[in-house]
Formats: sequence, structure tokens, C-alpha cells
Amino acid sequence: MNDAAMSGIDVWSRGTNDIELSFDVALSVLSPDECMRAERYRDEAKRQRWAASRCFLRQVLSRYVDEPPEAIRFDRLPQGKLVLSDHPSLHFSLSHAGELTVVAVTTTNPVGVDIEPLRPYAELTGAVAISMTPRERDILDALPASKRARWFLHGWTCKEAILKATGAGIDDQLLKLEVSLDPNVPRVVAWDNRYEENWFLQTFAPDKRHIGAIAMKSQGTHEINVVQRTLG
Ligand SMILES: CC(C)(COP(=O)(O)OP(=O)(O)OC[C@H]1O[C@@H](n2cnc3c(N)ncnc32)[C@H](O)[C@@H]1OP(=O)(O)O)[C@@H](O)C(=O)NCCC(=O)NCCS
Repeated sequence: MNDAAMSGIDVWSRGTNDIELSFDVALSVLSPDECMRAERYRDEAKRQRWAASRCFLRQVLSRYVDEPPEAIRFDRLPQGKLVLSDHPSLHFSLSHAGELTVVAVTTTNPVGVDIEPLRPYAELTGAVAISMTPRERDILDALPASKRARWFLHGWTCKEAILKATGAGIDDQLLKLEVSLDPNVPRVVAWDNRYEENWFLQTFAPDKRHIGAIAMKSQGTHEINVVQRTLG
């Protein structure tokens, strides 16, 4: 492996509009399955964004596995998590929000990353209802209005990042998983009513308009270094 004599997590981010690739060039990097998926987007902007984002994922991973981006092969686990077919010890996770794509990469353990655009709390109440436990909702209700959106988005991205690390996805787990909503203290409070301490969680700001979280199972015995990177 190239870039990756790693004892931490690399977090790569890029606005898909920054990726100077024509759609045809992007398609030449993608697998036939990926090209078919891109073609299924009716909306041209979404189609191009998805192709650029998958291209970015391939470019990032190519730095670690010493293969050209187009040679990388993925498998998809039953709940949707992508893994590398030929490099099972290199872990990664992908999140996109509008024009921004973030990829977390590590050799330590399966990792999850999630990003969300910052937006007013009034636009988030539906998401609060499906994702926050009664105790978490009480905490949000007791906060000054100015803090609610950020605390909620912090909790939401932490939960999604954890569920992406496990590969379970959010289907029936969001309300079983309880996290600290305080952005200064990212941690798992309980899962299925059990105390869970073996998670590394960290929030980050991929840019001024988004919030993000990274999650990785860890023994808690050593520091995990998170490095934010951009493709040069
Ligand atoms: C994974 C999930 C949390 C993504 O949430 P999101 O905020 O909408 O989207 P994000 O951009 O952050 O993440 C999307 C990426 O997560 C990855 N992903 C999808 N399912 C995943 C899972 N179960 N675990 C980890 N990662 C997953 C994919 O790489 C996906 O990108 P891609 O579709 O371009 O390959 C959500 O879609 C989910 O819970 N999916 C699993 C349940 C499901 O839909 N199962 C259907 C069977 S395929």
C-alpha cells in the first residue's frame, strides 16, 4: 500500500463541482455497473454529481492500493456498504451531500463517515422524530433555540457514521442508538440500552456549510489521528 502506513483515519473531501472532469471522462473510470447506475439518474446534474463523486472515491482509494482508479473492484454487502474486493484490510466509507463528497480511509477497523448540510431546525423536525430517543428529544427541547440544529445534526451524523461503520445502515437502529448531542463531547451513550464504550467518534467541518462525523470501533487504548486531506 502506498499512502497508507496509517495509524489513523484520513478524511478526503471534495466539491464535485471542483472535479474538472467531463462526464465522458468520468464514465471511462467507472465500471459498467457504475455507468449503468449513473445513467439511471434522470436529472443531469445529479447524474454528473454521482459520477464525479464515484470517480473521486476511486481516485482516493487508488493512492492506497497502488492500482489505477479504473482497476479498483468493489463488492456491496447486503445492507449496501461498499468494500474493496481485493484489499479487505483497507477500510473506507463514503458520504455525499449535494455537491460535496467525503471519503474516510483507514487500515485500522471498519470506519463510517457522514456529512450533512447545516440548516435551520425548522427543516429538521421530521428527522428529529424518526432518529432521536425520548431522552435525546428532551435534551434538544431544553436547549436554547440557537443551538438545537447544530446539536441535532451532530447527533444525527454520529449515529449515521456508526451505523455505516457497522454496515447495518439506519433502517431500524437509529432509535436504539443513543449518543451525546453535545458537539464538544462526541460519544456513544448506549446501544440497545447497553453501555457502549468502544467507539471512537469525532466531528469535523468539511467546509463552512456542512457538519460531519467519523466513527470507528476501537479498544480505546490509543489515540486515533484524524487527518483532513484534499487531492492535489
Ligand atoms: C447508508 C445510509 C445510512 C446512507 O445515508 P445517506 O445520508 O442517505 O447517504 P450518504 O451519502 O451519507 O451515504 C451513501 C453511501 O453510503 C454507502 N452505504 C450504503 N449503504 C451502506 C451501509 N449499509 N453501511 C455503510 N455504508 C453504506 C454507499 O457507499 C453510499 O454511496 P453510494 O450509494 O454512492 O455507493 C442509508 O442509505 C442506509 O441506512 N442504507 C441501508 C439500508 C438500506 O437502504 N438498505 C437497502 C438495501 S441495499
